[in-house]
Amino acid sequence: MTNTTRGALVASVAVAAIGMALARGRKGDDPPPAPAGTLAEPNIELVTDPEVAVSPVVEAPRLFPTPASGTPALPVSIDVLPAGLSSLSAQGCNACHAAAHDTWATSGHGKAWTNPAFQSALASVNDSTLCQSCHLPITNQHEAVANGYVDGAASRPVLVANTAFDAGLRAEGVTCAACHVRALPDGSATILGTHASANSPHRITVTDELQKPELCATCHEVTWPGADQPYYATYTEWKGSGWASAGVTCQHCHMAPTTGAIVTGTNGVGPAHTFAANPARALSALVRMPGTVHRNEPFDLTLTLQNSGAGHSVPTGNPANTATVTVVLLDSSGKELAAPWRQTYARTVDAASPYLTRADNRIQAGGQAAATRRFTPSVKGAPGLGYAEVRLALGTPGSTRTVVLARVPVRVE
Ligand code: HEC
Ligand code: HEC
Ligand code: HEC
Ligand code: HEC
Ligand code: HEC
Repeated sequence: MTNTTRGALVASVAVAAIGMALARGRKGDDPPPAPAGTLAEPNIELVTDPEVAVSPVVEAPRLFPTPASGTPALPVSIDVLPAGLSSLSAQGCNACHAAAHDTWATSGHGKAWTNPAFQSALASVNDSTLCQSCHLPITNQHEAVANGYVDGAASRPVLVANTAFDAGLRAEGVTCAACHVRALPDGSATILGTHASANSPHRITVTDELQKPELCATCHEVTWPGADQPYYATYTEWKGSGWASAGVTCQHCHMAPTTGAIVTGTNGVGPAHTFAANPARALSALVRMPGTVHRNEPFDLTLTLQNSGAGHSVPTGNPANTATVTVVLLDSSGKELAAPWRQTYARTVDAASPYLTRADNRIQAGGQAAATRRFTPSVKGAPGLGYAEVRLALGTPGSTRTVVLARVPVRVE
C-alpha cells in the first residue's frame, strides 16, 4: 500500500465517533450519547500555511507536507533509518541526547499514547485510526491501517495488519522521529536539525522548518466541518496576537534553551523538550484593595487579569482546558478570613459535532479581564499582617497545576 492510500484511508474513519471521544475528554468520565447516527464530512482539516509552501530551504524535505485534498499530513512514513543510526526510537537517541530525551519523556508528547486520559477516550471510539494520527504521527506506530470501507461507510473501516508495526515506537507517542526524521526522495532518510555538525555520527539536514510555528500547528490546530471556530485554535490565536507580529514563536516560549547539553558530555545548552511553558508567566494579576481591612466590615477588591505572557488565549487548545483564578484572604495565622472568590475562564462547546461555541470568556493574548468582589473579613480572624493571595489553576478536570500569581500584604484590624 502506498503512503497516500494509507493517509487517505486513515482520514476517512468515523468522525461522529471522534466527536464523542473529544467531548468525553471535556466531560470527564461521562461520555455524551453518540451524535444521532450522522457522519460529518470525514475530513479533519489539518492546517497548512501558504508561507510554508514557499520555504526558501530547498534541500530539506517538508516536515509535514501540505496535504493534497482529503489527505492528511499524518501519519508520515519513514521506512529506512538515517545513515549512522541503528534505531529510530527515542531510546536510541537517548544514548547521545539525554537532556532532550529526559525532558521529552515527561512531556505530553512523550505520553501522547500511554496517557490514561487518551487511552480511555480512544477505547470509547473503538480505537479509531483517525484519533491516532496526531498522537502516533509515524506510520510504523500503527498496528493496523484501514484498507477500504464496508459499503463505503466511514464508520466501518476494513483494518489490515501493518507489517512494519513497531510496538516500542508506538509507546513513544509523539516521538523524536516525528519532528526530526524524514525520508528523502532518493530512498534514504535524514535527521532534521537547525545546525550542520562535523561531529555528528548521523546525517543532518539543516532546515528552518523546525523553528516555524506551522510545525506545531499541524497537530495544535484542528477544524470540524461546519464549526464556528477551530476545535483547537492555538495557532490561529497566536497568529492574531502581537507575539506573531513581533516574531515570537511557539518554540521561543515552549522550547527555550534551558536544559542540558545538546550532546551528553559536551558544553552548552539545548532547547527544552518538556514543551511546557511556566503557567505563572501566562497571566499577570493586579489587585486593588484597601491596605487595611477591618473584621466584620465589607470592602471591595478589584482583580484585573492580563494575559501578558501566553502567545494565545488562556486557556487554549482542548475545550476541556480551564483556567480557574481564586482569590483567598488569609489572616496572620494563615487561616481564611472570608469565603474564597473563584472565577473560571473556558470555552464551552456543544457535546456533539461540529462543537459550536456556546460560551467563551477566555482571556485573549494581550487582553484582560477585570471584576470586583465584596469581601467581609470574619470576626474570628486573627488581627495582624495577612495576605490576599491570587492563585491560578490550569488544566483539564482530571489534572491541574496551581501557581500563585500574586500575594498582597494587608493589615487586618
Ligand atoms: C551515537 C550518538 C548519537 C545518536 C544515537 C544520535 N545522535 Fe543526534 N547528534 C549526535 C552528535 C554528536 C551531534 C552533533 C552535535 C553538535 O555538534 O552540536 C548530533 C546532532 C543532532 C542534531 C542536530 C543538532 C543541531 O544543532 O541542529 C539533531 C536534531 C539530532 N542529533 C537528533 C537526533 C535524533 C532525533 C536521534 C535519534 C533518532 C539522534 N540524534 C541520535 C549524536 C547522536
Ligand atoms: C489534529 C491532531 C489531533 C487529532 C486528530 C486528535 N488529537 Fe487528541 N490531542 C491533540 C493535541 C494537540 C492535544 C493537546 C491539546 C491541548 O491541550 O491544547 C490532544 C489532547 C487530547 C486529550 C487530552 C489529554 C489530556 O492529557 O487530558 C485527549 C483525551 C485526546 N486528545 C483524545 C483524542 C481522541 C479520542 C481523538 C480522536 C477522536 C484525538 N484525540 C484526535 C491532537 C489531536
Ligand atoms: C514536537 C516536535 C519535536 C519532538 C517530538 C522532538 N523535538 Fe527535538 N527539536 C524540535 C525543535 C522545534 C527543535 C529546534 C528548537 C529551536 O532551536 O528553536 C529541536 C531541537 C533539537 C535538538 C537540538 C538542535 C538545535 O536546535 O540545536 C536536538 C539534539 C533534538 N531536538 C533532539 C530531540 C530528541 C532526541 C527528541 C526525542 C527524545 C526530540 N528532539 C523530540 C522539535 C521536536
Ligand atoms: C505530531 C503532532 C504534534 C506536533 C507536531 C506537536 N504537538 Fe504538541 N501535542 C501533541 C499531542 C497529541 C499532545 C497531547 C498529548 C496528551 O496529553 O495526550 C500535545 C501536547 C502539547 C502540550 C501540552 C504539554 C503537556 O505536557 O501537557 C504543549 C505545550 C505542546 N504540545 C506544544 C507543542 C509545540 C510548542 C509544538 C511545536 C514545536 C508542538 N506541540 C508540536 C501533538 C503534537
Ligand atoms: C509568549 C509566549 C508563548 C507563545 C508565543 C506560545 N505559548 Fe503556548 N503557552 C504559554 C504559556 C505561558 C502557557 C500557559 C502555561 C500552561 O498552561 O502550561 C501556554 C500554554 C500552552 C498550551 C497548554 C498547555 C497545557 O498544559 O495544556 C499549549 C498546548 C500551547 N501553549 C501551545 C502553543 C503553541 C502551539 C504555540 C504556537 C502556535 C504557542 N503555545 C505559543 C506561552 C506561549
